[in-house]
Amino acid sequence: MESSKIQQFLEGKIIFITGATGFLAKILVEKILRVQPNVKKLYLLVRASDTKSAKKRFYEEIMQTELFKVLREKIGAKNLNSLVEEKVFPVAGDISFEDFGIENSEIKDEMFKEIEIIINSAATTRFDERYDIAMNINVLGAVNVLKFAKRCEKVKIIVHVSTAYVCGEGEGVIPEKSFILGETLNKNSYLDIDVERKVIEDKLKELEAQQLTSKEVTIAMKDLGIQRRRRREIEYGEVSKKLTPRRKASRTAANASCSETSPKTLPRG
Ligand SMILES: NC(=O)c1ccc[n+]([C@@H]2O[C@H](COP(=O)([O-])OP(=O)(O)OC[C@H]3O[C@@H](n4cnc5c(N)ncnc54)[C@H](OP(=O)(O)O)[C@@H]3O)[C@@H](O)[C@H]2O)c1
Repeated sequence: MESSKIQQFLEGKIIFITGATGFLAKILVEKILRVQPNVKKLYLLVRASDTKSAKKRFYEEIMQTELFKVLREKIGAKNLNSLVEEKVFPVAGDISFEDFGIENSEIKDEMFKEIEIIINSAATTRFDERYDIAMNINVLGAVNVLKFAKRCEKVKIIVHVSTAYVCGEGEGVIPEKSFILGETLNKNSYLDIDVERKVIEDKLKELEAQQLTSKEVTIAMKDLGIQRRRRREIEYGEVSKKLTPRRKASRTAANASCSETSPKTLPRG
C-alpha cells in the first residue's frame, strides 16, 4: 500500500500496540505520531506494575530517546508533550496473561469499545530463551492478543509482527500462504502446540521433584528449548530460531483482517 494511503487510513484511528518499548514498535510509535499526528489514540501495552510505572517507562525508554529528536525539532518540545499527553495511553500489562493481566475493568472496557487496529510486536527475541517463557510469550501471548481482539467491537485489522527465521528446504518460487494449524514444512509431520505445552509441564514437574535451584531450573528449561528446536529441525525440516505462533494463531483468528509480518532484520543502534 502506498504510504500516503496508510497515512490517510490512520487518521482518526485508535490503535493498540504491544511491545512498545521494543526496538521495532518504538520506531512505529514515533513514525505514527510524526506522519499522522491526527491519529486519535495510541494504547501502548507496557510491562509494568501499574499505569504510573507504565507511563514512566514510556517517557524514559521511548519519548526521551534520540528517536524523537526529529519530531521534537519539527513541532517543538511543548507541542510534542501536548501531542503525547493527548494521544498516547500507556497501559500496564503482560501478553502472557489473558486480557494481558489488566485488572482495571474501566480501562479494559474502554479498550474493547474503542480499538480499531491491533499491532502485536511483543515477543521474547532471545534465541536461548527458556522454553516455557518463549511458549508463554511468543505462542500463547499471540493467542491472548487474538482473544482480546475478538472482544474489540470495532477492530478492523490485526497485525502480528513475527520473525523471518523460519525456512525449510525448497526450490523455486515459494509463495506466501496461510498455514493450517499443525502444518509443517515437511508434509509428513505435524506440530502440536498442546504436545509442546505438555512437554513443558512434565519437565517443570520433573525439575520441581529434583528440588533444584532456580538457576538450575532456568538452565534446564533453556536446554529443553534447544532440544525441542533441534528436534523440529531434524523431524520437520524447519529452521526456527524463535518459537513462533503462526500455526496456533490461525486457529484462533478473530473476525478481522489478520496479517503476519516478518520484517527484515534491522541493525540496532
Ligand atoms: N528487530 C528486528 O530487526 C526484527 C526483524 C524481524 C522480525 N522481528 C520481530 O519483531 C518482533 C519485535 O522485535 P523487536 O526487535 O522490537 O524486539 P525487542 O526489542 O526484543 O522488543 C520486544 C518487546 O516485547 C515486549 N515484551 C516481551 N515480553 C512481553 C510480555 N510478556 N508482555 C508484554 N510485552 C512483552 C518487550 O517489553 P520489555 O521492554 O518489558 O522487555 C519489548 O517491548 C519480534 O517478534 C521479532 O522477532 C524483529
